[in-house]
Amino acid sequence: MKIESRLAQIGSVQEPVTGSVSYPIYLATAFRHPKLGESTGFDYARTTNPTRKVLEEAAAELESGDRGFACSSGMAALQTVFSLFGQGDHLIVSLDLYGGTYRLLERIMSRFGVTASYVDTNDLDGIAQLCTPNTKAVLIETPTNPLMMITDIERISAWAKSKGLLTIVDNTLLTPFFQRPIELGADIVVHSATKYLGGHNDVLAGLIVTKGKELSDQMAFLHNSIGAVLGAQDSWLLMRGMKTLALRMERHQANATAVAEWLLTHEAIDEVYYPALAHHPGHDIQSRQSSGNTGIFSFRLKDARYVEPILRHIKLIAFAESLGGCESLMTYPAVQTHADIPEEIRRQIGVDDRLLRFSVGIEHADDIIADLGQALEAAKREIGEA
Ligand SMILES: Cc1ncc(COP(=O)(O)O)c(C=O)c1O
Repeated sequence: MKIESRLAQIGSVQEPVTGSVSYPIYLATAFRHPKLGESTGFDYARTTNPTRKVLEEAAAELESGDRGFACSSGMAALQTVFSLFGQGDHLIVSLDLYGGTYRLLERIMSRFGVTASYVDTNDLDGIAQLCTPNTKAVLIETPTNPLMMITDIERISAWAKSKGLLTIVDNTLLTPFFQRPIELGADIVVHSATKYLGGHNDVLAGLIVTKGKELSDQMAFLHNSIGAVLGAQDSWLLMRGMKTLALRMERHQANATAVAEWLLTHEAIDEVYYPALAHHPGHDIQSRQSSGNTGIFSFRLKDARYVEPILRHIKLIAFAESLGGCESLMTYPAVQTHADIPEEIRRQIGVDDRLLRFSVGIEHADDIIADLGQALEAAKREIGEA
């Protein structure tokens, strides 16, 4: 069955008693045992909850993995995955990385003796130089947030496999609708499901999908032992969002492409970072390994003085710190999402004071362009007057 149909049908045939098309929300945290030594398959909700289980099975199936694990946020999912590692272990990580992931590695995991090196994950020579006998995994974001750098997942996971390393891919920006890293050789996929999967800026959630029995069993142990699991209500809300993922992603992509192409021609813009654009350095790899493009991109203004008035004048587009929802949101990464990354690293990768990140929503593209256009004009006037 095609992915559009599988998404629309999440949870719709799993409830045989009533035939409920929308899977019920089981709030129970404890389940009766039929007798000593027997279980219905549900004992205690941290380990398994029926509503969460339907979501987790759908996530595993959509990402072509073996097991899915729903967590209370994307960060909770990442922490659960990082708990595979301990004292002395080393990770190789994408240079341009979500700031929260960098903070978790540098300020929390470091306390447990886990170290990380940051590199352009397309540079196999650079990666090979960083690889030590203690290296255990490569963590990739592709596209990266916010600079939309693309990594060849098949190439890097083949290399990682040859060295006995795990490949972990944060697939938040493309979702399994457009990209399935496990099919390209990855071992673990992580999501901030708060973003496109949930899709409505109203549920905080994370997902992990694993490939292989041993790794899946290890992750089940960590998920239950750490306990940062997703509640039943939020599991239901996330499934409700995922049912329309295909429609939303197609619209996000079409809108983002239209807005990015319009911005490219604007006199106030220096550069637009969006892999759908033919001049983007990752365009060819992205076209090969994914069936479409995300709805976010970043753009660099010619003058940093434009930033404050643009953020003040946008009306339809909200100045807010997330991505992947129906509503268009604009973020200033240097002072918001990526503030925890030291300035010299931010400058090295290009997350500077002229860069804005735009999560293009599913409103009409004409309205989004009109709003951005009036904000740019207002900013231009103010700068001219200053
Ligand atoms: C790529 C990426 N990974 C992980 C996270 C963390 O997810 P959450 O905010 O759901 O904890 C984010 C959040 O913005 C993200 O953009």
